[in-house]
Amino acid sequence: MTRRTFIKYGIGAAVGVPLLSGAYAKWVEPYQLKRRTLTIASERIPASFDGVTIAHLSDLHYGEFVTKDHVANIFAQIMASKPDMICFTGDLVEDHVMPAEAIIELMLKLQAPLGKYAVLGNHDYVRDSRAYLSSDPTDLVTASLEAAGFHVLTNKHHQIHYKDTSIAVAGIDDALEGNPDMETALYGCPPNIWCMLLAHEPDWADIASRYPIDLQLSGHSHGGQVRVPIVGPLMLPLMAKKYPDGMYQISRNQAKFPEKPTLQLHTSRGVGMTLMPIRFFCPPEWTLITLRKETKSSTS
Ligand SMILES: [Fe+2]
Repeated sequence: MTRRTFIKYGIGAAVGVPLLSGAYAKWVEPYQLKRRTLTIASERIPASFDGVTIAHLSDLHYGEFVTKDHVANIFAQIMASKPDMICFTGDLVEDHVMPAEAIIELMLKLQAPLGKYAVLGNHDYVRDSRAYLSSDPTDLVTASLEAAGFHVLTNKHHQIHYKDTSIAVAGIDDALEGNPDMETALYGCPPNIWCMLLAHEPDWADIASRYPIDLQLSGHSHGGQVRVPIVGPLMLPLMAKKYPDGMYQISRNQAKFPEKPTLQLHTSRGVGMTLMPIRFFCPPEWTLITLRKETKSSTS
């Protein structure tokens, strides 16, 4: 290879690789929705809930970057798995650039026999005023979710009864912009029931572990949204730095909860995008969780 050819190829690579990477991050990867599968087993999951499936969906960010067509496509992929329950862990909209009510019709297509549950995320609050907003923006998100059949668990819990047994799903207000309150969320919830918590920010798990929660579902991190090979995520948001992606086991005070020695946490990378319409080495995902009744013999 002559020196001139070497320089020519060098310039071509220096210009071409960033251009191709940018095009891939904007036009290809954001639409490569993955389904993560996960099994959660516990002795305290009632036998009648053995095999129940939960679709964990997070960080839709409907707005400028995630259009109605994109949302429809995501929901169709989820419904193809026919989940028994659907749990949404916040950021329905991207800072109210588009009104949440515009996707009520699409959210109605999410159907699950054991119900749909949601909490708010930090982007469901708004940082500047939007012309169309005539009332509290979080009320608009809550109203849209409720109109689409979701139980919005802002510092609340709900018991799901099935074949004479129950589990609980609790939720808290957003930890960065709202007023999360675990005591209020769990008020009246039997302490020994198998209980799942929806909390937008995953690092909330350090606080949730002080309460009788079995499984926390979170989002918020987007997995970093842009990852550099070997290096990892370029940036992680506040309260998603410790538990940014996947499954974690958090030990807790065993004297306080002898039957619940660990809190399990699942952080989803989410389906949408924020700040920039790109994803790189961090494709969007939703998770299909299967509950399993664990027996003493199956754990030994
Ligand atoms: Fe988000």
